[in-house]
Amino acid sequence: MHVHVITIFPSLLEGFVSAGLPRIAVEKGALTVDPVDLRGFTQDVHRSVDDRPFGGGPGMVMLCAPVFAAVEQLERQHGPAPHTHRVMLTPRGRRLDQRTLKELAGRERLIVLCGHYEGIDERVRVGMQWDEISIGDYVLSGGEVAAMVLLDGVARLLPGVVGHPESTANESFEDDLLEAPHYTRPRDFRGMAVPEVLLSGDHAAIARWRREQSLTITKERRADLLLARAEPTQAREGKSWIE
Ligand code: 6GU
Repeated sequence: MHVHVITIFPSLLEGFVSAGLPRIAVEKGALTVDPVDLRGFTQDVHRSVDDRPFGGGPGMVMLCAPVFAAVEQLERQHGPAPHTHRVMLTPRGRRLDQRTLKELAGRERLIVLCGHYEGIDERVRVGMQWDEISIGDYVLSGGEVAAMVLLDGVARLLPGVVGHPESTANESFEDDLLEAPHYTRPRDFRGMAVPEVLLSGDHAAIARWRREQSLTITKERRADLLLARAEPTQAREGKSWIE
């Protein structure tokens, strides 16, 4: 998959793909990340990417023209939709979750726009189609960190990147449950022992134990996830099979 990230801080994205799992995804040929410097698409001597808001108020607004120029050049080079999917990172977008990551991981090419300042000129949003995505209910100074969240989440879903397909299948959120606890050596650390069942070699018992742990921790911490699993009508009526 190819991801072009339109940003005023391309070096942040370069650093991001130089380590960890995103780097492995790039080395394996599953992912390319192309940081696109928005300033390269400005027309004035100051290379402005923002200006003061019409109507007054604090902060600056990202200009339309450089964004349109960047997107149009990328799409001339690589082709428009459906091969290219446009993502605008904005707190106004739909909330990113594991299902959306999977959906995005199935695309062949993304153009990701990182917003900045007080916002992006509204005509960027209405002048072309975007999949508007937010990473949560809090405010960041810019979309770059959100782009890294998206890239990290997508990279580990690409075929051949994570060693065991099982390690992405059994994990938190994959079946809307939090994961059971993990243990490795030593068997006893400062009086804290590894649960016996994990040492038993009884794979069915281990699977049962993990399932129980998953349900217990999800019920304690994220009952909303269990509610979401219930029948839509039950969820609407505020009932669930939890108890
Ligand atoms: Cl995608 N951008 C910004 N600036 N703030 C955010 C966000 C995105 N998602 C949550 N907060």
